Amino acid sequence: MKISFVKPGLPATGTVVVGVLAKGTLTKSAAALDRQTGGAIKRALKAGRFEGNKGQSLSLVAPAGTRLDRILLVGLGKPDEIAVAEMENLGGRIYAETQRDKSGAVAVAVDHVPGAGLSAPESAARLAYGARLRSYRFDKYRTKEKAADKPSLRTLAFQVEKFDVAKKSYATLDKIANGVFFTRDLVSEPANILYPAELAKRSADELKKLGVKVEILGEAQMKKLGMGSLLGVGQGSIRESKLVVMTYNGKGAAARREQPIAFLGKGVCFDTGGISIKPAGGMEDMKWDMGGAGVVVGLMMALAGRKAKVNVVGIIGCVENMPGGNAQRPGDIVTSMSGQTIEVINTDAEGRLVLADALWYCKERFNPKFMVNLATLTGAIIVSLGAQYAGLFSNDDALSDKLTKAGQKIGEKLWRMPMGAEYDKELNTDGADMKNIGGRGGGSIIAAQFLQRFVEKTPWAHLDIAGVTWSKSDAPTVPKGGTAFGVRLLDQFVTDFYEG
Ligand code: BES
Ligand code: MN
Ligand code: ZN
Repeated sequence: MKISFVKPGLPATGTVVVGVLAKGTLTKSAAALDRQTGGAIKRALKAGRFEGNKGQSLSLVAPAGTRLDRILLVGLGKPDEIAVAEMENLGGRIYAETQRDKSGAVAVAVDHVPGAGLSAPESAARLAYGARLRSYRFDKYRTKEKAADKPSLRTLAFQVEKFDVAKKSYATLDKIANGVFFTRDLVSEPANILYPAELAKRSADELKKLGVKVEILGEAQMKKLGMGSLLGVGQGSIRESKLVVMTYNGKGAAARREQPIAFLGKGVCFDTGGISIKPAGGMEDMKWDMGGAGVVVGLMMALAGRKAKVNVVGIIGCVENMPGGNAQRPGDIVTSMSGQTIEVINTDAEGRLVLADALWYCKERFNPKFMVNLATLTGAIIVSLGAQYAGLFSNDDALSDKLTKAGQKIGEKLWRMPMGAEYDKELNTDGADMKNIGGRGGGSIIAAQFLQRFVEKTPWAHLDIAGVTWSKSDAPTVPKGGTAFGVRLLDQFVTDFYEG
C-alpha cells in the first residue's frame, strides 16, 4: 500500500472517504460530493442512523452522478474531539473498511474543521499513521491464500491543502511504524525459526543499517562475566544464549560523556517452563515470551530511524527455556553477575533470572540515567489487569509519572502497582541469598521485587507486558496478533522528556 499526501480535488473513480461532523454537519468535501450526487449524502443521513459520531461510518455504493465505486462517510464527532488518538483510530478504521475495495484506490478528503483540536495537515498525518499501523499482516507462511482474499488496497491518498506539511509530519511517524512492524514481525515468528541467535542476528542486521552499534555476547563471554543466572535458564537448550547490546548516540559527539538512558527486554524465545514444565494447553503462546526484547529492538529502530536526539542503550537477554538432560533443576543454586546467589525453586520463573544479569550488566557498564525493562514476566499480571493496562513497577515516582503520561497520550496504558519490603521478604531463603519465587499471592509484585534486587540505586521501572503483548481481536490501529505494545509508548516518552 502506497500512502501519499496530495492537493484536494475529488478523483473520478475508486473510493472517496469524507468526514461528517456530529449532528450530521457536512464537511466542505462532503458538501461538495452531496451537490455532485444530487443530494445523496443528505438523504442518506436522513434515512439511516449515521449521525457523524465517532466510530460511525456509512457507505454509499455506486453513487449516481459520479463514476465512483463508493463514498465512505466517516464520523468525526464534535470538532473539539478531533485529537491525535481519535485520528489514528479513524485512520485504522478507514483502512479496515477499504482494504478489500476492488479498485484498490482510496482517496481521503481531509478538511479544515473550525474549532478542531488538530490542524488539517496534522490530522492527515495521524490518519495515515493509523492506517499504516492497522495494515500490518504476518502472512509469510501462508502459501495458499488466494489473491482475492488478500488486501487489495494499493494507493491511499490523503487530500489536504498543506499536503507538504502533512507529508513531513508523517515521515517521522512512518519511522516509528517501521519499529512497530519490526517488533510485530519478531513476536510473530515461531520459535523454530526465531531462536536466540536468530533474534540477535536479525536485530543486528536491521539496526546496523541505521547506525546503531550492536554487540552480541555468546555463552563463553557471559560465563566470563559471571552471568550464572541468565546462563542457567538457557542451559537445557541446544540453542546458544545471547546477550545483545545496542547503543545509539543521537546527541552527537559533544554528549558522548553524558549518561545514556537504557531499555532492557526479556527475550525468552520459547518458554516451556523447563523442568517445572508448563501444561500443554496454550503453550504455543510462549513463542512470544520474547516480547519485551522485541519491543526494545523495535524501539531502537524507531529512535535511530527518526534520528532521535538522545543517547540510548538497548539490551536484550535471549534464551530458550527447555527441559533436557542438561537443564537446570528445581533447587539448583546459581550465582548471578552481581555475586548474589539464587535458589531456583521453579524453573518456570525464568524471565527474572535472565533480567537479573542483564540489569546488573547494564548498570555496571553504562551507569545509565535510568533503566526501563519490559517483560512478559507473569501470568499474574493478566489476572490483575487483563489486556487493558500493562503493570508498572518502579523505585522512582518521577520516572513512573513520565511513563504513565506517555502511555496515556498514545493509548498504551500503564497501571502502577505497589512494591515494598513486606513483599520482598518472601524471596528470602535459608540456603542462598534469595529464591526465585515467593508465596501464592501477589506474584507480579514479587517478581518485580526480585528484579529490584539487581538495580541498586539506579532509577528503574519494570513493565510487565504479559497481558498486552498478544491480542486475540482487532483494535483500530492494532490488528490481532503481536501488538508491539511499548514501542510507541517509549518513543513518546523519549520525545517528551529526553530529547534536546
Ligand atoms: N512467560 C511466563 C509468563 C506469561 C504467562 C507470559 C502467560 C505470557 C502469558 C513466565 O515465565 C512464567 O512462566 N511465569 C510464571 C511464574 C511462576 C512460576 C512464579 C507464572 O506466571 O505462572
Ligand atoms: Mn516461565
Ligand atoms: Zn517466561
